[in-house]
Amino acid sequence: MTVLAGPKISPQAHSENFERIRVKRYSASLGAIIEGADLSQDLDDATIAEIRQALLDHLVIFFRGQDFSPEQQLAFARRFGTLNQHDQVKGLDAYPDIIEVRKEPDDERNFGGAWHGDVTYLSEPPLGSILYALEVPEVGGDTLWSNCYLAFETLSSGMRAMLDGMTMIHTPAKIYGALSQDWSKDSSVKSAPNATAHYETEHPLIRTHPETGRKCLYVSGAFTPRFKDMTEEESAPLIDFLMDQCTREPFTCRWRWEKGDVAFWDNRCTLHYALNDYSGHRRVMHRVTVNGDRPF
Ligand code: SIN
Repeated sequence: MTVLAGPKISPQAHSENFERIRVKRYSASLGAIIEGADLSQDLDDATIAEIRQALLDHLVIFFRGQDFSPEQQLAFARRFGTLNQHDQVKGLDAYPDIIEVRKEPDDERNFGGAWHGDVTYLSEPPLGSILYALEVPEVGGDTLWSNCYLAFETLSSGMRAMLDGMTMIHTPAKIYGALSQDWSKDSSVKSAPNATAHYETEHPLIRTHPETGRKCLYVSGAFTPRFKDMTEEESAPLIDFLMDQCTREPFTCRWRWEKGDVAFWDNRCTLHYALNDYSGHRRVMHRVTVNGDRPF
């Protein structure tokens, strides 16, 4: 029997050339804390460029102690692209581009409580999302992110060759369609199961990041039920393996929220998971999502 060596994981490479912000690495595989930027202000182009570089280097970046009005969060997000209005989840009445991610003390389910990328079923899925913590439990409600570059790069050459050229089917159906659970029980998602949420989109399984040129695995939990020209049953073993590969502990980081924290993640090369372990407590976040481009 041939025994393959386990993956060697080194801390991710990153740029040292920041003048406007301070970038402190958060875990070996991804994540950095950014200091020196008040996101409620109209930041100059050089600072925004450094924040963008930090996002590309670290995949998810965290800012502490921010004080954002909805307008300020939207203005910050617009510096990175046009904004995405969720096609299945209603935004705030006054700010349709902001999703309120709210879990009340007696809600059972939370929003985002499984590994996924945001709305990957769109033909042009988001560049990233910016999540702002307004109210958090004393403990619990952490969010995890994973590095899907590492997930791809640590596969064997034989596996990478086998996956090359495969196409994934992405769809909102299992989360937002008629097959989804009863959303009306919870405050986390303000929409009923939607009969129109059954469309499908094709994206490459191995995606090349449009800015870094690096390749990553592009699977997205319940948004990716099968491969093109294959049944769900046939696809399941390989999808399960790929999701496990994407979310292996050494490829992840976990953020413990405090009120005023902001997380900005690159949705093109990460997955994330909002833990649902704070029953009896409220958690309220505002999410703004920046549009991206068609995966290749
Ligand atoms: C999400 O999936 O966008 C929600 C993340 C969170 O609430 O931590």
